[in-house]
Amino acid sequence: MQATAIAQPNIALIKYWGKRDVERNLPAVGSISVTLRELHTEVSVALSSDLRSDELFVNGEESQPLLPRISRCLDNVIGTQRLRARITSRSNFPIAAGLASSASAFAATTVAAASAADLSFSTEELARLAGQASGSAARSLYGGFVELRNSGDTIKLAALREVDSWPLQVVVAITETGPKPTGSTEAMEISRETSPFYTSWIEQQDQDLEIARTAILQRDFAQLATVAEHNCLKMHSVMWASRPPMVYWNSATMRCMQTVRQLQTEGCQVFFTIDAGPQVKAVCLPEDAEAVSKALAETPGVQEIMMSGLGSAARLVDKT
Ligand code: PMV
Repeated sequence: MQATAIAQPNIALIKYWGKRDVERNLPAVGSISVTLRELHTEVSVALSSDLRSDELFVNGEESQPLLPRISRCLDNVIGTQRLRARITSRSNFPIAAGLASSASAFAATTVAAASAADLSFSTEELARLAGQASGSAARSLYGGFVELRNSGDTIKLAALREVDSWPLQVVVAITETGPKPTGSTEAMEISRETSPFYTSWIEQQDQDLEIARTAILQRDFAQLATVAEHNCLKMHSVMWASRPPMVYWNSATMRCMQTVRQLQTEGCQVFFTIDAGPQVKAVCLPEDAEAVSKALAETPGVQEIMMSGLGSAARLVDKT
């Protein structure tokens, strides 16, 4: 009873920040993301009556701190009376540094767990299960451009565009590796309780979603760039104005934003977005990818560059 799944992380262009129900992990706002191609997490789940407790190995090393969340995810998918599991996870990019590693990890875990237990779910059901573990993970069950909407007391997901129909490139500038200081659930709650900007953030989200959705459907890069940067900066303003303030950026993060601004003045079709971490993701048209990657690589403080096209949905790769 073993299954292996692969999922790619996704990068939100219209961000999710804040929960309307912490217990059920329901987001306070909808979001729009792109699923990446070159970055991935592969998760195997082996259920066995020989195991006395769950075991988790991340990139070859046993991990106790991450185990409770993964065990809860398995309980959710399979049920609490399940067999214990050995879970092995491998990512080809730094984990827990604002690169959406939880999205790909929980998306892959959900798909692998369901298959290992011989359970069959629709893609949207799998997305909801993954979303209970990590809000952004729900989006990695779909490829290309993905919208997550609140709908009654659940979430609905839709692929807005297929992977190849608008082949944008994402250049990730890694400015720091290592785990982030505050986990996103705690950070979102701090924002909800203390940030004076939180209410306006929630109120304006539908408008941003509408603009971004239309821009994606019409392949209007300039419109998408404007709304995505604005939405990202609004989310970080909410974080900065929280008490305690949550500033995920470092000086290289700022320099990368300036690099993107400079590229824009030179005519490059590019925009930046930043999540709960110091990395900068520059989204651009394929013909500008090389210039963007070169300029970011030369930006002081950038340690590494990763390039990715848009990728497909989480999927099962092996079942025994
Ligand atoms: O899914 P979580 O709990 O890791 O939260 C994701 C939050 C952001 O990455 C900052 C935004 C987003 O929509 O992915």
